[in-house]
Amino acid sequence: MGLSILIGAQWGDEGKAKIVDYLCRNIDIVVRYQGGANAGHTVVLEGKKFVFHLIPSGILHPDKQCYIGNGVVLDPEQFLKEIEMIEKSGISYHNRLKISALAHVIMPYHKTLDALRETKRKNPIGTTGRGIGPCYADKSSRNGLRLIDLYSDKLDEKIEANIEYYNYLFQNYENYQPLDKEKIIKDYQYYAEKLKPFVDDVAFLVNENLDQGKNILAEGAQGVGLDIDFGTYPFVTSSNPTAGGAMTGIGVSPLRVDKIYAIMKAYTTRVGEGPFPTELLDETGEYLRKKGHEFGSTTGRPRRCGWFDLVFAKYSVMLNRFTDIVLTKLDVLDGIDKIKVCVGYRTSKGEISRFPVSLDELYEITPIYQEFDGWESVEGAKTMADLPENARKYIDFLEKSLNTSISIISVGPDREETIVRK
Ligand code: IMP
Repeated sequence: MGLSILIGAQWGDEGKAKIVDYLCRNIDIVVRYQGGANAGHTVVLEGKKFVFHLIPSGILHPDKQCYIGNGVVLDPEQFLKEIEMIEKSGISYHNRLKISALAHVIMPYHKTLDALRETKRKNPIGTTGRGIGPCYADKSSRNGLRLIDLYSDKLDEKIEANIEYYNYLFQNYENYQPLDKEKIIKDYQYYAEKLKPFVDDVAFLVNENLDQGKNILAEGAQGVGLDIDFGTYPFVTSSNPTAGGAMTGIGVSPLRVDKIYAIMKAYTTRVGEGPFPTELLDETGEYLRKKGHEFGSTTGRPRRCGWFDLVFAKYSVMLNRFTDIVLTKLDVLDGIDKIKVCVGYRTSKGEISRFPVSLDELYEITPIYQEFDGWESVEGAKTMADLPENARKYIDFLEKSLNTSISIISVGPDREETIVRK
């Protein structure tokens, strides 16, 4: 099996954590490849709810190794909170959790800047406020601190230089309190000590394990629509959830990749601002939000809900060439009389079936829908044959349209509420 990649194929929150948990049965190591504590991965185990923002949810399986790749931006405070949560639950993580020494570290000034910039933007992005954008910006501008830098003799100097710069930047914002240099240095010295047992050369470990025939799952956060290059820029996150991001985010060659799983919800959601062609601002949208518990696990914000967007899904398939689609939350569509799928966009210049690169164009489009008869309930379905005929028709239509096999279907939040097609 080798290396598999698991990608949120829409705008995030497709239910990746449940599928990671499910696929874990045949996996030795789970590696996160991008994003940071902006992600929220919820897993329910024996009635107990775990919400992870940084640590791969694979940690709940005692025989799995979990890595955080160099492509992730690490918030030490959040990481230590998750360690505490795991510890309290009696789950042992010793020697099976590693963080890349090359991962960049979120600093307090990243979070401050994230919040300040949002208040000053004419069109806010609706970020999670976790300092993600500013941390990746420091990485690209070569002012960032990597985990390995926390162990340098020059750590104080590096932090001081950045604090000086950020204090200079922040002085123009009203009511801003200067950064407390001594406290920040002390805090990060403390984090450095606490994180020491986890810091390692993750790219080496990944490649070595693949050479030994181990199965590795690269777990993406967010989704294709939030990709910094291919998403609805600037309403995106600051990393690459698309397949290429997994290569640079953990340090592997594309030649290693065996499977690429798309996680797609049976409808669409988006949290934060930005264009959303199939958004439902009516009672059907409200129904999906309530039934699907569509509230952010990081910020608690209500998610915007809408119909499945085939135009976007085809774009997502093109960018990632998925080997498999995992269709999630099919049960949320239960009881809806007529289900719609967006099959094209109407523009002032005619109909288009390709996702436009221009945001202005995207804001102008009207979705063209194809209607499907709904079904009563998919509850308890273990095989395709158990599904109502109309649910099967819906799945077949998506599969044919996307020219990719839908090999796993999730019909409920529980591990067992999963149909695997042979
Ligand atoms: P940031 O990643 O916090 O900078 O936020 C940028 C955009 O990505 C905002 O619209 C967020 O709501 C969205 N976003 C970030 N992380 C997630 C996620 O895990 N799920 C869904 N949306 C996300």
